[in-house]
Amino acid sequence: MSIASSTPHTITRDRRQPWLRSVPAPAAAPRAPGSSRGGSTVAVPAVVAAPTVPTCDGRLVEYANFDHGASTPALASVVAAVEKATATYSSVHRGQGWTSQVSSHYYEAARDEVSRFVGAREGDEVVFTRNTTDSFNLLAKALPRRTQVIVFATEHHATLLPWEERRTTRLPVPLTHQDAEALLREALKRSTSSSTLVVLSGASNVTGEYWQVERLAALARGRGARVALDAAQFAGHRRIDLDSLGVDYVAFSGHKIYAPYGAGVLVGRSDWLDKAAPYLAGGGATAAVGPLSTTWKTGPARHEGGTPNVLGAIALAAACAAVRENRGAIEAHERRLTERLVTGLRDIDGVETFSIFGDESDRAPVVTFTVDGLESSLVSAALSAEHGIGVRDGKFCAHLLVDALLSDEEAGTTTAVRVSAGLATTEAHVERLLAAVASLAADGPGTAYEQVEGRGWVPVEDQRETLVDLLW
Ligand code: ALA
Repeated sequence: MSIASSTPHTITRDRRQPWLRSVPAPAAAPRAPGSSRGGSTVAVPAVVAAPTVPTCDGRLVEYANFDHGASTPALASVVAAVEKATATYSSVHRGQGWTSQVSSHYYEAARDEVSRFVGAREGDEVVFTRNTTDSFNLLAKALPRRTQVIVFATEHHATLLPWEERRTTRLPVPLTHQDAEALLREALKRSTSSSTLVVLSGASNVTGEYWQVERLAALARGRGARVALDAAQFAGHRRIDLDSLGVDYVAFSGHKIYAPYGAGVLVGRSDWLDKAAPYLAGGGATAAVGPLSTTWKTGPARHEGGTPNVLGAIALAAACAAVRENRGAIEAHERRLTERLVTGLRDIDGVETFSIFGDESDRAPVVTFTVDGLESSLVSAALSAEHGIGVRDGKFCAHLLVDALLSDEEAGTTTAVRVSAGLATTEAHVERLLAAVASLAADGPGTAYEQVEGRGWVPVEDQRETLVDLLW
């Protein structure tokens, strides 16, 4: 194995290749059956095996995971890559020991893989963070003074809240894609600042709908604004290419792309990042420290003070590689799940599904719905306790959007249930979910529930063990 000696600060096409060539590929992942298309099965990368979970009446069933929007399980190839990297785990960029050099090498190779995954341009920086929230907080602190931020109210709080309030324009929830364009066009016309940042989402974390990023970004660029893309709910589903999308910055999280090891990333133009104060002042970010002054590095190290999450970065890169190499199979699998989920839920009496742009919008395998007469938290508790199905309920850290979507709802509920599918979801899981929701909508829960402080709805008679053995 050859180990390059310097730490790249910014991405250059020429430097990327040597890193990539000398990185051992993670162990081949076991293949999982995917969707059948035209009679043939398209294999998707395997996640770790679905656990068996208890139901309140004492059965054990395979867990049906409909909570990918919150956190995905790990890909088997990600676990293998992390396990391999653990064998030589050491400090990065801090030691001459062989394992330190190997770890540094893996860490920089991870940066290169992420760069490839998003189609980073010459000079773009790849900064490892904790998650998307962390990435946008970093970007917010790196904005030139008096930057005007334009953001839709539809956003997840990670994308809505990090910006300085008095310099942020919040656009209302649009009714159509054309409406979104019109709202943005108007806001851009009104912005008088010399520096403007438009913040967009690739896909809504509430409805899964894809935004027309290319069109909106073109509008922004036409007015000299920069664009930041929240790809947290997008990166695992659709290809990102910074240039063709016309986007300056992109952020996403490992835990939503099958790499739940605590790393996220911010990729984008280096000028603002290199001029900003270090996000995490400390060791590794400094070029020189004197008694009276400190000089900071430029490049990703400037914002990655302290010992970084090396295994998290490796996991994130391994996931990016697997998703990139299996894009077609993943999209085919998800298309089938999405079609069945959308039509299946919509056809159940008493179930109302929600969308920003209209029911027929292109979307990730995510559907948010309510059930007449039932609290969303009770629906999700019953799906788990009686059927071994995991979903999320509430407002999904996107309060403004959920309030807007539910404002006309006759049932008067203020929260909803979200199902979000992915690589751990099979077509059999979808059928199980649809049958369970249909039964809840028709007859209510199959057993009595009570509300318990701190736990929400729990079955009155519950045979599940509430204590789980410790791992250590
Ligand atoms: N942002 C995550 C979600 O939408 C937690 O569920």
